[in-house]
Amino acid sequence: SLRHVPVITIDGPTASGKGTLASAVAEALGYHFLDSGAVYRATALSALRAGLAPDDEAALAALARALPLAFRGRRILLDGEEVQEQLRREDVGLLASRIASLGAVRQALRQLQLDHRRVPGLVADGRDMGTVVFPQADLKVFLTASAATRAGRRHAQLLARGESANIDSLRLDLESRDERDRNRTHAPLRPAEDAVLLDNSALSVDETVAAVLKAWESRRRFG
Ligand code: DC
Repeated sequence: SLRHVPVITIDGPTASGKGTLASAVAEALGYHFLDSGAVYRATALSALRAGLAPDDEAALAALARALPLAFRGRRILLDGEEVQEQLRREDVGLLASRIASLGAVRQALRQLQLDHRRVPGLVADGRDMGTVVFPQADLKVFLTASAATRAGRRHAQLLARGESANIDSLRLDLESRDERDRNRTHAPLRPAEDAVLLDNSALSVDETVAAVLKAWESRRRFG
């Protein structure tokens, strides 16, 4: 088709609220939604199950290239099994961050992510959506919040799920993960040059969604 398929990218650090924001924006616009973190997490879960070493780049890339992953609304299927809850596990997130530093793994997961760009449009969230995977995106947002705010949110989420958590160790944990995501050689976490920077520390979810929809409106009108 000759029709342009618009893409909105939302990148940012751990627990900045990009997933919530991206899915709300996708819903408001009737667009598809890609949680690219879930792609890395699914690769990590798959690697744990296969007993692969976290530094075996060739084996991890082979696994990533053949990842039997499907998104069905809120459900995420890995080889037909619902894994959306297991993907939220802290150990899965930590391994995802480690294997995400491997260039061959990132390359192997690229096409799977590009395939999500379908009519009428896509909202994709992650670390490198605007910089590497969708560099031609129509609107790029870089979402941040203070480490204290992010640790507080993650803490509330875990408590709501009936899990115990220590806010200080959560904060240390997310700071070390950010550090690794920012300092890696391949696709480091950083705003695209043409990204809109948005700090939501003092904003509600609705206010953050409204800010992005407004930026999208003015892009469409004047862009
Ligand atoms: O957003 P998240 O916490 O679900 O992502 C899990 C890990 O995956 C994160 O620590 C870094 C990695 N990741 C990435 O490198 N690139 C992306 N586009 C998305 C996630």
